[in-house]
Amino acid sequence: MGIFRHSGSPGKIPVLTDDSVKKRFRIRNGHAVDPASGLDGVFDILVADGRIEDILPSEAEVTTGDEDVDASGCYVLPGLVDIHTHLREPGFEYKETIATGTRAAVNGGFTAVCCMPNTRPVNDEPAITRYIQKKADTDGSCGVYPIGAITRGQSGEYLAEMGSLVEAGCVGFSDDGRPVMNSLIMRRALEYSRIFKVPIISHAEDTTLSGKGVMNEGLTAVQLGLRGIPNAAEDIIVARDIALSELTGGRLHVAHVSTEGSVRLIRDAKRRGVNVTAETCPHYFALTEEAALNYNTAAKVNPPLRTRHDVDAVREGLQDGTFDAIVTDHAPHHREEKAAAFDDAPPGISGLETALGLALGLVHDGTITISRLVDLLSINPCRIMNIPARLIRVGAEANLVIVDPRVEWVVDASRFESRGKNTPFEGRLLKGRAVRTVVSGEAFACR
Ligand code: DOR
Repeated sequence: MGIFRHSGSPGKIPVLTDDSVKKRFRIRNGHAVDPASGLDGVFDILVADGRIEDILPSEAEVTTGDEDVDASGCYVLPGLVDIHTHLREPGFEYKETIATGTRAAVNGGFTAVCCMPNTRPVNDEPAITRYIQKKADTDGSCGVYPIGAITRGQSGEYLAEMGSLVEAGCVGFSDDGRPVMNSLIMRRALEYSRIFKVPIISHAEDTTLSGKGVMNEGLTAVQLGLRGIPNAAEDIIVARDIALSELTGGRLHVAHVSTEGSVRLIRDAKRRGVNVTAETCPHYFALTEEAALNYNTAAKVNPPLRTRHDVDAVREGLQDGTFDAIVTDHAPHHREEKAAAFDDAPPGISGLETALGLALGLVHDGTITISRLVDLLSINPCRIMNIPARLIRVGAEANLVIVDPRVEWVVDASRFESRGKNTPFEGRLLKGRAVRTVVSGEAFACR
């Protein structure tokens, strides 16, 4: 009772600050779901010294001295892990910092994020990787795993020193924000991925085809008089990268899939046993290109929002296992930047604080089960990036999220912890959200 309070520490999130409380508390009566541990039922979970000390039937006697966190009617899930986040630091601190971005993550139910390398400077050298890690150690509220650039400066010309970046702690490679247009360089990156056992994350966009496009090529673009990007711009590179993965046996992970064609290509490749995994984002299953009507720059994102046909295909891919992960592609931008004309505004959506609510929509409407949601938002992301699993198991580090699936709330970006208030979901009514996120045994209250 009353154990969650504002810490007054750098974060605005109320945290458990009392040491005795932080060290030992009991999550009471929650519906724990962890398919990796074969757990699905109502339990009490004891957290002590950063670890899960015990998992007990919920009617068990109260151990004296335990602090209760009432999770009745809530799910207790493995902490969510977002493997596609832009933290913007170093270089773009006016958009987001490691401090604000990881607070946003925790507020959204995430216990770790993998951050993309399109910072300034680009994360293409061990010194930058170490800088990010150091900053995460001092300012971060959750785990931060850096992703290194595939090519130096993300210029697409020369491979980065993948070996030294892996040694420094990079868990994967991507030129996200841009494709690797040179197929030979992509081939080499995939070859190296086998040696270092890390994924190559493909931003699939044929830039000779997307050109100066700013939204999906189709009816809405015509209505708005804006240049379009056809689905084929994505499909072509997905097909190429699947072919290169087959050629090399390299670990391919396809980022932010938005088209029906890509879903089909990935489904077929998986059937043939190609070493490919794939992710999509909430905006590709919850919005169509029409969100950009009225020149709404909050709905400008790359790849662009597509048609109902694509949204249906993405949802089908989530249902049938074509997709391994749901990621946020959290891409915070400054208000002034997004206030520009549609042509000039930067693409991106601030996604960490709406992802879980939107993904729970898939559970509510019967598209996926809660256990599949855990696969998509926690278990598979950790597997793809080879980072420690968030297990609900006795002895495991306590990385959990308590989710209330009943609570209805309206998206209000002014309440985001993220500096990026750029969301096309502003005003949308969502059902379900994180109420507590436990990171390494420390419980944060979400708001
Ligand atoms: O919309 C996007 N924004 N897509 C990307 O691939 C990059 C991202 C960004 O960094 O802003």
